[in-house]
Amino acid sequence: MKMISRRDFLKASAVVGAAGVLTACGGSSASTAASSTAASAAASSTAAASGSANIGVCIYQFADNFMTLYRTDLEEYLKDMGYAVTIVDGKNDQNTQTEQINTFLQQGVDVLVINPVQTTSAQTIVDTIKPSETPIVFINREPDKSVLDSYADKCCYVGADARQSGTYQGELILETETQGDINGDGKITYIMCKGDPENIDAQYRTEYSIKALTDAGKEVECLYEYLDNWDQTTAQQDVANALAQYGEKIEVVFCNNDAMALGALQSLQQAGRTVGKDVYLVGVDALSEAVQNVVDGNMTGTVLNDDVGQATAAAAATKLYVEGSKVEQYYWVDYVKVTKENAAQYIK
Ligand code: GAL
Repeated sequence: MKMISRRDFLKASAVVGAAGVLTACGGSSASTAASSTAASAAASSTAAASGSANIGVCIYQFADNFMTLYRTDLEEYLKDMGYAVTIVDGKNDQNTQTEQINTFLQQGVDVLVINPVQTTSAQTIVDTIKPSETPIVFINREPDKSVLDSYADKCCYVGADARQSGTYQGELILETETQGDINGDGKITYIMCKGDPENIDAQYRTEYSIKALTDAGKEVECLYEYLDNWDQTTAQQDVANALAQYGEKIEVVFCNNDAMALGALQSLQQAGRTVGKDVYLVGVDALSEAVQNVVDGNMTGTVLNDDVGQATAAAAATKLYVEGSKVEQYYWVDYVKVTKENAAQYIK
């Protein structure tokens, strides 16, 4: 069931500025975010018939639930603008994506939108594209600022600040009846299902979900961090193993995304555990299935990773490049905490 229309959602989505410098305790790198301006051009459905352009879009892998929503939105908005759009599947392989970029360059596309397979390859990607002077809109996987600086005025990043999503996950646990300490032993005992370890979203969500707890003065105990690469089946297996190993000790299951949370939920239910009663479970993305589970009380909460807002901003930045207008270096889109109380409106 669709509670609010895509257009309404689009109009409501705001692109906000964010700034900050933080050092992660888990060894992840510091990052600086510059400010951005509001970008709403994509909301306009007026086709730029005379300003037609060819846009190449490289997605890290099609087999990713969240990026499937994102690329579907992006394709729609770019086509609404009157552009010819080609979207390719990097199949989670950087070599494949690099070949795809080279093909787009040979075809002479006007703008490239890139969701890199490896953010560590972003500099090589920029160096490959630079001689052609083709502008780049990086999305979803944030490259180092130095990479953007190396191609100033021709390169920007559209994304969401993953620290915010991690903080919201921690807050969701603090808002529960027992504040995460179900057995009342004075500490929150948890397992963590992590996304791709080189991905800043995975690093920050892992760090900031726990930081929210410790900042609130809570004692925490991590039983294990599982490397589940954003994948439902992998998380399902790892959580089944965790339940066999740690059993009742597990009070909270943190998942860096909803796909993994859905896998975790299957294993929790199979083990006879009840979310909200003897365990808590949180994810990120607000996939429809996860939001439905929040409504039904099978997940403690999730965090909206605003695919519509991000695709809107990415399309708007693309349009600015096509028109030769000034483009900011960063465009940030807010996350939204999704609880049982507000969940219904996020079912798409
Ligand atoms: C994250 C999202 C994950 C996955 C990842 C890919 O922002 O939460 O589900 O799509 O991006 O980089």
